[in-house]
This record gives sequence, C-alpha cells and structure tokens, in this order.
Amino acid sequence: MSSLQWGGRFASAPDAALLAFGSSLADDLVLAPFDVRCSRAHVAALSGVLAPADAGALLAALDRVAAEIDDGAFAAWATTHAFEDVHGAIDARVRELAGPAGERLHAGRSRNDQVATTLLLYARDRAARGARGAVDVAALLEDRAESALERGTLLAATTHWQPAQPVLLAFWLDAAAQGFVRAAERFARVAADAARFCPLGSAALAGSSLPLDRAAAARELGFGAPSRNALDSVGDRDVALDLLHAAVRAVVAASRPSEELVIWATPAFGYVRLDDAASTGSSLMPQKRNPDPFELVRAAGARAIGVYAGALATTNGVALSYHRDLQQTKAQVIDGTEAGLAALDAFRRAFAHVHFNDAQTAARAGDGYTVATDLADALILAGATAREAHHAVGERVVLAEEEGRPLDGRDAAALGVADAPVDPRASVWGKRSAGSTGPGMVATSIAATRDAIAALSESFL
Ligand code: ARG
Repeated sequence: MSSLQWGGRFASAPDAALLAFGSSLADDLVLAPFDVRCSRAHVAALSGVLAPADAGALLAALDRVAAEIDDGAFAAWATTHAFEDVHGAIDARVRELAGPAGERLHAGRSRNDQVATTLLLYARDRAARGARGAVDVAALLEDRAESALERGTLLAATTHWQPAQPVLLAFWLDAAAQGFVRAAERFARVAADAARFCPLGSAALAGSSLPLDRAAAARELGFGAPSRNALDSVGDRDVALDLLHAAVRAVVAASRPSEELVIWATPAFGYVRLDDAASTGSSLMPQKRNPDPFELVRAAGARAIGVYAGALATTNGVALSYHRDLQQTKAQVIDGTEAGLAALDAFRRAFAHVHFNDAQTAARAGDGYTVATDLADALILAGATAREAHHAVGERVVLAEEEGRPLDGRDAAALGVADAPVDPRASVWGKRSAGSTGPGMVATSIAATRDAIAALSESFL
C-alpha cells in the first residue's frame, strides 16, 4: 500500500525528508473522528455513482476505522507510516479494510474540500466544548459571588493597582464572571457559524462533474446548506480563525483575574490562600508556596495571542482556493485551540482551590482613603460642583495623611456633610446606581448572569 494518494505522473519517490517536512499528520491526527464523519457523508453524496455494495463496504470500513480511532489503534498504525496527513491515512486504512471498494471513496473529492469540511466539524465540536468550559467557570464564580454577598465581604478595588473605592468581594467575583459569559457566547456564535455552509463536494476548487448529492452530505453532517462557491470554500478559514480567536479571548478573560490572584496570594496582600492541590513548592526554598496555575494561565494568554497572530498571518495574501500555507493555519488553529481549552479548564480547577480571607480584604478596604469619593458625592448632593467637592476633599486627604489617620467623621463634619459615609461598609451600602457595587445591585447582576448561564447551558447540553 502506498502511503501517498498521488504518484501516477511521478517517475521517482519523494525525498523522504521533504515528505516528512510536509507532513501534517502529527498536527491533524486530532481531526481523525471528524474526517470519518466527513467520509461517511461523502459516501452518501456518491449515491448516484457508487454501487450499493461498494457503498456498504465503504461504510463498514469507516465504522472499523472509527472504532480503531476510539481505541487508539489507528493513531499507533498511522504514525508508523509516512502519511502526508490524517486524511491520507484514513483513506489508506479504508483501502486496506474495504478491498477494491476502498479505491472508490475518493471519487469526486479532494483533500481540499475534505480539510475544509473536517475543520468545520472540529470547530463545531471545540466551540461547544469551549462554551461549556467558559460557562462552568462563570457558574463557579457566581457560586462564590453568592456566598461572598451573603457574608458582605469588603474589598478595596483598584485602578492602576492603587486603592480606588471599596466594593463587595461579590462584585469583583461577578465582574470576573462576565468575561466568561461573553467568552461562552462568543464560542456559541462560532459553533453556529461552523454549522452553516458545508464545503464538501467543492472538490479541488471547481466542483465536480460527478452527480454529487451535496445536499445529502450537508444534511448528514448537520450543516444548513452546501457552500455557495467551491473556489472560496476550499480556502476559506474564517470559522477556524474565529474558533481560535474565541479560545484566545477566553484565555485572556482568565488571565485578568489570574493576575490579581497571583498578587493576592502573596503574604503582603494575604487576600487569598490556595489549597496545596493548586500550589507548588520551590526545590530550594522550603517555605515557598507558589500560585503556578494562575501564572501559567496568564502566560497561556500570551502564547495563544502569538499563535493567533501567526495563524491569521498564514492566510494573509494567500490567493483564492487552496494553497499549502493553509496547512500551517490548520496546525496553529488546532494547537492554539487545544491549549486555550486546557488553560480554561486549569483556571476552573485552580479557582476551586482559592479561599478568600475576608478579614484581610475587609481590613484593607479603607486603606488609601478609598471613601474620598463618597465624601465628594455628599458635597455634590449638598450643592457643591464636582470640581469644588473634589478639591475640598483632596485638602482633607492631605490633612489626614499628615496626621497619619484615615478620613473620618471629623473630615465629614468639617466639610459640612456629617452624615456622609466615612467607612467602607457605608460607602458600599450607599451605592445605588444600576450595575453598582450596592448589595441589591450585585444581587440583581448575579441573578441576570445566572439566567444567561442557564440559557447557554441549555443550548450546549
Ligand atoms: N496536508 C494538506 C493540509 O492539511 C492537505 C491538502 C493537500 N492538498 C493539496 N492540494 N496538496 O492542508
């Protein structure tokens, strides 16, 4: 059996090193189950061409290959041969299993439409997986938000890493959840796009003179319709890039709370403690307790961004139809997507091991004059302009700083707003605008987010 699907016009075998250089098998083996589904649909499309017995033999062989993929035998077999890609490997295995009928599977088909279709099936599967992964993280964050809301835990929120205003820890947790809800929705849009147009039957680039039933293939694979233009279909990687983009964005969403958790786990902050299960030690310093999973998630974002830029670049300037550059796009889409989904899963696992030290976050909530804005707001309510209020409170901050004390009732009284909140708790409970950190508003946001999570979960059971 030749490992190649071509050769009639060649007098000599390819250079082995160049064949190895051009092989994508190591990158695209993960597509094997999707290629089998694609190949089964192609048999359906060939109903006007294949004798029923041949079609039956092909389907039986494809069933065998599917079983071999599941139990690992196919990968072990394929990697001991010099195949150009997983598609050639499956075709070769079908030819081994089905005998003469096996030679008929590739009628009216090119690896070009096969790669495009298989990638879309992969995208649909991984986008659904990504949506579920992101939803799981969001749900976990909202569970934590709910219990933190019950406890009324306070936290100094920062801008520029400087103390800004007191908020509820529940507000921070709910904020972190929003990025994952959006990530899940992004994945959901990719999954829907990946089910619109079926490229199968586009053949190499011009379509086929065989009577292919493209509609039957599209239906069998769960697509809305056959793609419109074969020349476009074989080289279009838009959905594949959108999948990678969705994976990258999910990791970036995870990288932001990761950054905060890394710093919060330091003794200087002491806001959180990670269970042993999510911590690592130093091979030299016996006391160390490092928050590696969150550092690695942060780095996974950087890596995924690089892979995405590379994948997009491989499609830039590629003329219409298929060009071999797109093999690199495929490898990068798969690499980045798998790494992104793994990072998302790692974030969820690590976050489950985070414990907040409420006393510590509350103790720091007023540091850095975080109630200054509340005093200014009270002055504005009493008739001052924003500029006057800002200036007057700023002067009290200077005074308090000189006296080495926080803002307190003396400052409020001196400013003529004795009832203004001067402690973090009063500040938080005084917030009333929609979407604010006021406890009622946080409860509203958690409930709305729960609804969004339920709707997403229902569409990706
Ligand atoms: N290994 C190639 C890929 O994965 C398969 C496409 C080959 N098509 C071609 N015309 N050489 O993209």
